[in-house]
Amino acid sequence: MDKFVIRGGNRLNGTVEISGAKNATLALMPATILAGGVCRLANTPRLRDVTTMSTLLERMGVGVKHPGMTLELDTTHITSMEAPYDLVKKMRASFYVLGPLLGRFGFARVSYPGGCAWGPRPVDLHLKAMQKLGASISIEEGYVVARAKRLRGAVVSFDISSVGATGNTLMAAVLAHGTTVIANAALEPEITHLAHFLVRMGARIEGIGTNHLTIEGVDELHPADDHNIPDRIEAGTFLTAVAATGGKVTLTNACPEHLEAITTRLQEAGCDIVVDVDSVTISREGPLLPVDVTTAIYPGFPTDMQAQWIALMATAEGASVVTETIYPDRFNHVPELQRLGASIDISRNTAIVRGVKQLTGAKVMSTDLRASASLIVAGLIARGKTEVLRVYHIDRGYESIEVKLRRLGADIQRVDSEEY
Ligand code: UD1
Repeated sequence: MDKFVIRGGNRLNGTVEISGAKNATLALMPATILAGGVCRLANTPRLRDVTTMSTLLERMGVGVKHPGMTLELDTTHITSMEAPYDLVKKMRASFYVLGPLLGRFGFARVSYPGGCAWGPRPVDLHLKAMQKLGASISIEEGYVVARAKRLRGAVVSFDISSVGATGNTLMAAVLAHGTTVIANAALEPEITHLAHFLVRMGARIEGIGTNHLTIEGVDELHPADDHNIPDRIEAGTFLTAVAATGGKVTLTNACPEHLEAITTRLQEAGCDIVVDVDSVTISREGPLLPVDVTTAIYPGFPTDMQAQWIALMATAEGASVVTETIYPDRFNHVPELQRLGASIDISRNTAIVRGVKQLTGAKVMSTDLRASASLIVAGLIARGKTEVLRVYHIDRGYESIEVKLRRLGADIQRVDSEEY
């Protein structure tokens, strides 16, 4: 099992290209099930989660090729409508096949996702929405079994704004009979991008980019191609790393608009930010200042950047308060950051981070994807050697992060290790 060995203290300088958005890809791939034929998804990152989704689709009979950065999916011969436990337990986004399978074939059998590393992650909103659209849902031997002759349009009003439930409902509704309204729909760029892709497949959707979507069901969709948006969390992670180490880095193939919540806070923390059409340049020469953040749905500060922000604040000149409103228990990274010398107190869904002069290297363990990213950010500024174990988590969502960081001047190596 690989680990990262980081020798901290190097400033980051240069240019880094941001990969395609993982969370957009994980929605686009199941969306291709909605029509028979070949879809080409350009700017698809090479990630473990993409491989897991490919394996799932292959088991359903989808032909998958990933030459270069374009993913080709051939959905002409779908032979199975099942998402098995062994894949759903690896990656919860597998649940995304529910909506498209139900929409196109009127049947889906999808393993019920269990909890995740940082606590419960229910799917009740997904299931209620499918029921609203006329599906019968039963839980059989750990599987959600959904059936419908043909889904019919309905008003689906979410109490909580959910990325996954909005995506699933959207994918189910495009082939339903009649009109569906999704109220309090998620606004995340990955969902907006999914909606645009569905329109290119022949779907009729109004209100794209707002939290009120109206879908006029059609009888059939056709394959379409896509060029993916940049990954705003990968970009945010690199921005945070540079803010932590100091230096000057330009992110290319980035979308500044999607990064506003992060870049604004970075400016408050003492960083210089210069944006162009599809690039962001960050530099920090002066002191790192403490800045409070509260996670929120888009366009708020993303929960997927909370762990990296705590790592950044660990050496700020003062105390900051980081409040998690999306996943109140998402603090698995904190005890590991404490091993590096960070001073952090957790009270319910709030972390109080008191900046220290210096972190010091130690062995730490990744517990989930973004926790791993925060440990890397911390390792880059810690004195001495930091070893980050279980980096398979990071490979789920970051494409060759150590290679990209090394090009910017970081001392980070991937090492094969017996340690677990
Ligand atoms: C997606 C992202 C994940 C990100 C999260 C929040 C993907 C593949 N993953 O996850 O990286 O951290 O958005 O931005 O895109 N909820 C319910 N019932 C449900 C569904 C959700 O109560 O049926 C709650 C969740 O517990 C959470 C909130 O809704 O508190 C938002 O979660 P949601 O947006 O659904 O997250 P995911 O789509 O799972």
